[in-house]
Amino acid sequence: MDEAIRVLIVSPQATLREQIQASLHEVLDERARFIGAESVARALNLGRANRPHLVACDLADVMEDKLSMRRLAQLPKAVTVGIYQPQTLRANQTESECILQAIRAGFQDVLRFPLSRQEVSEVLDRVLLSGRLPEARASKGQIFGIFGCKGGVGRTTVAVNLATLLAAGLDDEVCLVDTTRQYGNARNYLGFDPKSGLLEAVQAEDRLDSELIRSLMVRDERSGLWFLDAPLRIDAPLDQHGLARVLLTLQDMYSVVICDGEIGVDAYTLTLLDLCNRVCLLLEAVVPTIRATRHLLGVLQDLEYAAEKFLVVLNRYNDFEGNVDFEEVGQALGHAVEALCPYERRCLIAINEGVPLVLSEPKTRFSVALRELAQVLIGDAEIQPIKKRSGLLSRLFGG
Ligand SMILES: Nc1ncnc2c1ncn2[C@@H]1O[C@H](COP(=O)(O)OP(=O)(O)OP(=O)(O)O)[C@@H](O)[C@H]1O
Ligand SMILES: [Mg+2]
Repeated sequence: MDEAIRVLIVSPQATLREQIQASLHEVLDERARFIGAESVARALNLGRANRPHLVACDLADVMEDKLSMRRLAQLPKAVTVGIYQPQTLRANQTESECILQAIRAGFQDVLRFPLSRQEVSEVLDRVLLSGRLPEARASKGQIFGIFGCKGGVGRTTVAVNLATLLAAGLDDEVCLVDTTRQYGNARNYLGFDPKSGLLEAVQAEDRLDSELIRSLMVRDERSGLWFLDAPLRIDAPLDQHGLARVLLTLQDMYSVVICDGEIGVDAYTLTLLDLCNRVCLLLEAVVPTIRATRHLLGVLQDLEYAAEKFLVVLNRYNDFEGNVDFEEVGQALGHAVEALCPYERRCLIAINEGVPLVLSEPKTRFSVALRELAQVLIGDAEIQPIKKRSGLLSRLFGG
């Protein structure tokens, strides 16, 4: 294991990054390994790949952008410290306002530039004492989110079937999290009635570990899938901090974590996007949904997400005459459609029975399309075929 202390320095100014690095190096000497990022978007990407222990961010660049500050402060398992230069504060902004704003966004500490050796030492002592070093190793699993910009495009259908197919077909452990804050219904698609889930995991706060989270999940004996249910209460106090804590814990336990996501862009959904390795963006070939998806892709681009992160999936696809062709959809979006899931009326029956279609009808075009999508997501690992189970057998095995 790499025992170096990994420090991510975020500032658009190369000279400032160098000066911050020099000050930190004075205290940390040879133990430190420095990574520079010129923007928050770059920092988030580098942050996931390198798992820094400490993030030092020039506040001048992000002060007006609360969302970026929050996203940075939530970088997995890192201590985030803001750095400000008094001369770059806005005319009417005091130093204490700047500090307060950073702390409110979730930064653990704020330092004034030029950095004093003593203050840097104190912060670093806290980082080292906080016991974060052993945790900041690379995680085991990959997180895949299922998103869409309109309700009803098939997120839950795809999430449940994809997760089931991977759980049954891979040697590794797979879990599904229903991250929906209101009216999550993956439970119905699986035919389960769990008594606990994401809300209880979030409420466990610092007590959350693999054993506790398993006790809050249910295992689907038909496929081996582990499932963490959405809250039953629609007013459940779920926020992005709790979501990040839970997903990072799961990422250390499972090779694949599939998240049934929400529509809309806010701190909660953006945190999920940040944590995902790849995101399936679902849509249907109808003009309003295509337009809305094009708009969403533009928003995500403005937020500096890499286009490759998103895999556009055309669901409920039917090539009857007059329907918008998938190539036209790609042109309208300015982003190629990478997967097609055909219209399959048995999707509805599957929901009513609580048996994912990939289990009951593994040979339908829908199930085959989902297998192809799964393969795109996980790369080379072989997904074993699922043997069809009759309703009775799946009842006998099922929960
Ligand atoms: N490929 C498909 N073929 C036919 N029907 C489908 C397909 N995918 C989804 N459906 C149907 O569309 C409806 C909505 O699907 P689903 O609940 O998965 O969408 P969602 O995006 O999760 O919706 P919500 O916004 O309610 O969370 C369901 O009745 C489902 O059976
Ligand atoms: Mg849904």
